[in-house]
Amino acid sequence: MSGAERLDWIAAPGRPVRGEIRVPGDKSISHRAVMLAAIADGVSRVGGFLEGEDTRATTAILGRLGVRIEAPSAGERVVQGVGLHGLRESAQPLDCGNAGTGMRLLCGLLAGQGFESTLVGDASLSKRPMGRVIEPLTRMGASIRSSNGLPPLRIQAKNNLHSIDFETPVASAQLKSAVLLAGLYAVGTTRVRERQPTRDYTESMLAAFGWPIRYQPGEAELEGGHRLRATDIAVPGDFSSAAFLLVAASVVPGSDLLIRDVGINPRRTGLLAALRAMGADIVEENPRRLGGEPAADLRVRHAPLHGIDVPPALVPDMIDEFPVLFVAATFAEGTTTVRDAAELRVKESDRLAGMASALRTLGVAVDESPDGAAIHGLGTKGRLRGGRIDSLGDHRLAMAFAVAAQRADGEVAIDDCANVATSFPGFIELAAAVGIGLEPAPTP
Ligand code: S3P
Repeated sequence: MSGAERLDWIAAPGRPVRGEIRVPGDKSISHRAVMLAAIADGVSRVGGFLEGEDTRATTAILGRLGVRIEAPSAGERVVQGVGLHGLRESAQPLDCGNAGTGMRLLCGLLAGQGFESTLVGDASLSKRPMGRVIEPLTRMGASIRSSNGLPPLRIQAKNNLHSIDFETPVASAQLKSAVLLAGLYAVGTTRVRERQPTRDYTESMLAAFGWPIRYQPGEAELEGGHRLRATDIAVPGDFSSAAFLLVAASVVPGSDLLIRDVGINPRRTGLLAALRAMGADIVEENPRRLGGEPAADLRVRHAPLHGIDVPPALVPDMIDEFPVLFVAATFAEGTTTVRDAAELRVKESDRLAGMASALRTLGVAVDESPDGAAIHGLGTKGRLRGGRIDSLGDHRLAMAFAVAAQRADGEVAIDDCANVATSFPGFIELAAAVGIGLEPAPTP
């Protein structure tokens, strides 16, 4: 870890979590919006775009591929689409930074181009499995070189991929999306089936851009050879970012927080079901559609929580929320168990190991298993001890630890938090504004 990558936080109990806020735009939708707008005919406007490092890496890559993207104001992008076949070869490698979504979706998009591309990423992304996308794309006729299925990925020039009928071996929207995006360039009908349905943003957004697609939970199919028509996309707030605040307000006595304009696509809101089963008090107010997606204002008040067995069927619907679920479990009465969640080991960090180790340092008993964990809650009045813990450069671990520290008896020093900017720019300021005790560590 170099000094430049490291940004430590000091977190300690603050005030009850109160106020009325918005969280930054949805990361998954922001990535897809600029990608599809780039290969559409005409000019698309994206509002509520996530100004995070992950999504900015994707726009920078699209720029290198010859797409003009303007940012008239924060959260706004105007994309001059180049059409399905208008991307141009980049002389430079394409740097996805920390973003698995960026790399896997671009891999699908670039697999059928008549030019070569190299996708690279940071140290964390360079350890994440890409074989899962390389395998089906190779079956479609793409040629992708990697070292043992890890980045960098060298994608050879290919015209005319052919379609496949593919059942995903892991529940992954990134994998499904990579195959569907390659399917735009394939001859015939590309079909993706999933044993456990995952977020359907690629499907819904392809439809919004006018591409004929048939989909229902667990199944999507499309034919190559159509065109995308520019459209405007309004991006709702990211449920995965709201999740940290939902748990903070749930576990800190006296809290009452309103988070406006949050996307509540059912394939994203498994944590709501889990928290409610634990006794949380979260109400969806003003339900409506925002940019074609279900959205609502979420009102959360403190409530005593109890442990649950998280149903395995919920896992894909809350795949990014486990770090903060572990924090809710820490302050619950009884034990919370998680299983069928081995995917957590190949996220931005090994999240099962990272959470278990940090929570143990702070005084929580956690039993780790290959595909899950049991967190033995400290009870509704329980408190952590202070200590120094490592977020492993994983944005969601850093934010989860900041929430955990709100019920600690001492300061919690959190290492390596800079990557919070990948998904939640301004987290530290927003958290502090609603009462969360969090500040940058003084520079040594
Ligand atoms: C995402 C899908 C999920 C999620 C990630 C975003 C997406 O990854 O963890 O943060 O935008 O499709 P997997 O598809 O690997 O589960």
